[in-house]
Amino acid sequence: MKRKLVGALLSVAMVASLAAGCGSGSKEAAAPAESETEAPAEEDAEAPAEDAGEEAAPASGGGGELIGVSMPTQDLQRWNQDGTNMKAELEAAGYTVELQFASNDIATQVSQIETMISDGCKLLVIASIDGDSLGTVLAQAKENNIQVIAYDRLIMNSDAVSYYATFDNYLVGQKQGEYIVDALDLENQDGPFNMEIVTGDPGDNNVNFFYGGAMDVLQPYIDAGKLVVPSGQIAKDDVATANWATETAQSRFENILSSYYSDGTQLDVVLASNDSTALGVANALAANYTGTYPVLTGQDCDIANVKNMLADKQSMSIFKDTRTLASKVVIMVDAIMKGEEAPVNDTETYDNGTGVIPSFLCEPVFADKSNYKELLVDSGYYTEADLQ
Ligand code: BGC
Repeated sequence: MKRKLVGALLSVAMVASLAAGCGSGSKEAAAPAESETEAPAEEDAEAPAEDAGEEAAPASGGGGELIGVSMPTQDLQRWNQDGTNMKAELEAAGYTVELQFASNDIATQVSQIETMISDGCKLLVIASIDGDSLGTVLAQAKENNIQVIAYDRLIMNSDAVSYYATFDNYLVGQKQGEYIVDALDLENQDGPFNMEIVTGDPGDNNVNFFYGGAMDVLQPYIDAGKLVVPSGQIAKDDVATANWATETAQSRFENILSSYYSDGTQLDVVLASNDSTALGVANALAANYTGTYPVLTGQDCDIANVKNMLADKQSMSIFKDTRTLASKVVIMVDAIMKGEEAPVNDTETYDNGTGVIPSFLCEPVFADKSNYKELLVDSGYYTEADLQ
């Protein structure tokens, strides 16, 4: 118990420290180098001094074994937090950590994982860039008896994946769709309301669930003519955003605005699957749209987007507390390292092409400007100063 508390405190301190850097306007300034490996002990200076002795002793399974943590990129805020939390929590549990960020480049991620294998990692935790591109390197992991936990994004078509830990991705999309139904009062209003859709990278399996969850809610209203999509871009491939990049979402949205809304047509709602794409939409709206501001969804509660929510430039987001996910993964790592089965709560939803991968799904939480303080500030995720 006490050990978990120490881990949690350390994690909060690390996140608070990272978030403080983000709040100063430059997340890069606070983030570790793109090719970060295991940090020397003194870099964990945020841990309270009295915990230092505790940290030296392994929490449970950890006996200094090397765990490889592969994250997709440092370009988006959340992966910095995921990486930092995972490293802090694993170290607090007595493991040594090799943490790498792959600059959203598949070849870089493959070669970083190869290095983790040759460095003697006992287990790999991987948030993939492209879920379909790791089969060969993970076959190598399997040959070396290294188990793999897919982190946040499912790794497809590889039988080397033992477990999956994520948030309930379908629920994320469903909450976004339900928010739109409520915001436009679609049960009672006929509209028609004009909607546009922006989702994420086609190589990210989560997109199927975000888009699928939202469209399962919204499609009946499209079929009933209450929601219309003037651009005609509705199919998943037509609304994708490579690498979830803000700039890509922005330029696609600028085109949509100039082609379908420049005559004064009102845009009522934008379903954006996450915050990096919602930011692109908000940027495009700021420069190219003068009608009544549309309902705009998001996901992640990135600092820039919480600021936009407070300024009425984004309606909602979904909070996925990366501290919770990291803690769950550490529990899974511990179990696996002891030769036990890891705890899961879903054995049906996530088939990666080789069979269903036992999963632990954390709960995503609705966020808007009415509850951000309790969710994000009171919980220590951000400080008020970060959000100014
Ligand atoms: C994650 C989202 C994130 C997106 C872009 C998805 O796989 O689940 O939280 O916004 O990737 O990084």
